[in-house]
Amino acid sequence: MTDEKHEKHEKPGFDTLCIHAGQEPEPVTGAVAVPIFQTSTYVQESFGKPRSGYEYARTRNPTRLALEQLLAALEGGVAGHAFASGMAAITTLMLALVKRGDHVVVSRDTYGGTYRVFSKVLSNFGVLFDYVDTSDLAAVRSAVRPATRMIYAETPTNPTMGIADLAALAAIGREATASLDAKVRLAVDNTFATPFFQKPLALGADVVVHSTTKYLNGHSDSVGGAVICASRDDGEKIGFVQNAAGGILSPFDSFLVTRGIKTLPIRMRAHDANGRAVAAFLQEHPKVSRVLYPGLPSHPGHDLAARQMSGFGGMISFDLGSEGAARRMLDRVKICALGESLGGVESLISHPATMTHASVEPAERERRGITPGLVRVSVGIEDVADILADLERALSAV
Ligand SMILES: Cc1ncc(COP(=O)(O)O)c(C=O)c1O
Repeated sequence: MTDEKHEKHEKPGFDTLCIHAGQEPEPVTGAVAVPIFQTSTYVQESFGKPRSGYEYARTRNPTRLALEQLLAALEGGVAGHAFASGMAAITTLMLALVKRGDHVVVSRDTYGGTYRVFSKVLSNFGVLFDYVDTSDLAAVRSAVRPATRMIYAETPTNPTMGIADLAALAAIGREATASLDAKVRLAVDNTFATPFFQKPLALGADVVVHSTTKYLNGHSDSVGGAVICASRDDGEKIGFVQNAAGGILSPFDSFLVTRGIKTLPIRMRAHDANGRAVAAFLQEHPKVSRVLYPGLPSHPGHDLAARQMSGFGGMISFDLGSEGAARRMLDRVKICALGESLGGVESLISHPATMTHASVEPAERERRGITPGLVRVSVGIEDVADILADLERALSAV
């Protein structure tokens, strides 16, 4: 590359942002890694005069602030806020942006914990939720009513890997905003895809949420969450409730997530390569009746996913026909760890009906296609031959 080309290349790429955004060397010592500021309070310079904008660590902490700036840069937002869990992030989002009497259209196949806090907690405060298939745009349009103030979408969904057209959902939100004369936001849970594969704000969404517990941290050693906003006004509302309700991410966890994100691009490329290989293997396996992976041409959302995402990732669900068959398989895996959660470097495998989605009522689970034989695998970045051999051995017990 010539010097001239270097000069024209002004905007850093995603991989560079992962390593540098929000992570200037620490001014006192020059530490390259953002230090863990393990302090609850900051001494004031004099009466009524705080030093450098820090007073109390619920409100602001340099380690958390670095991560929040990093998250905002990766999602292309103007404000990021980090929380003690994905659920703390999602709950804060709702406390900040909806109120009694407001109506929210939610992806039917949303994460079980999100469904639980919406249907069993926030509904007690007069917020109304409707669960619809957000891959069906006509269904979303007809669910919008005068009280609607938010469309809350997950894509790909957990665990059936449904794909929703984010640009089209954003357009429905804009049309509703114009006709109702009240802001109807599109909020997107981008946990499965991560900003490496999908950028909801660039597609017109107003807010993105994450469980940083998953791919962003990536090492199954921290629980956390994030909200990233496209507008300063929404960012201020989230920041106000973050400070008021206090569900903040700790300095140590902020450090871990910042460190994890440095390798997000290389991890996501590896998850994607292994995910494609595992999906192809499962699709050919005689004991598997159905494979849900947006990277397979047989997936109903494949074309849309190929347009909207730059990769398909490592999340796959597949059906073994019965709970007994799923149980026999899950008792035999060795490399794939049987456990909740996803997005770690290690392969994780689970049974949604009795684990992640146990809090969803059986009839609702059936409506969502969470069958008793459904198994979800978060394909890790081990040698793919070892993952395939593990699955083959376990499937032979079915
Ligand atoms: C898509 C999605 N969103 C949100 C959450 C909640 O995150 P956390 O467990 O960090 O509270 C999860 C957890 O599994 C999830 O899968």
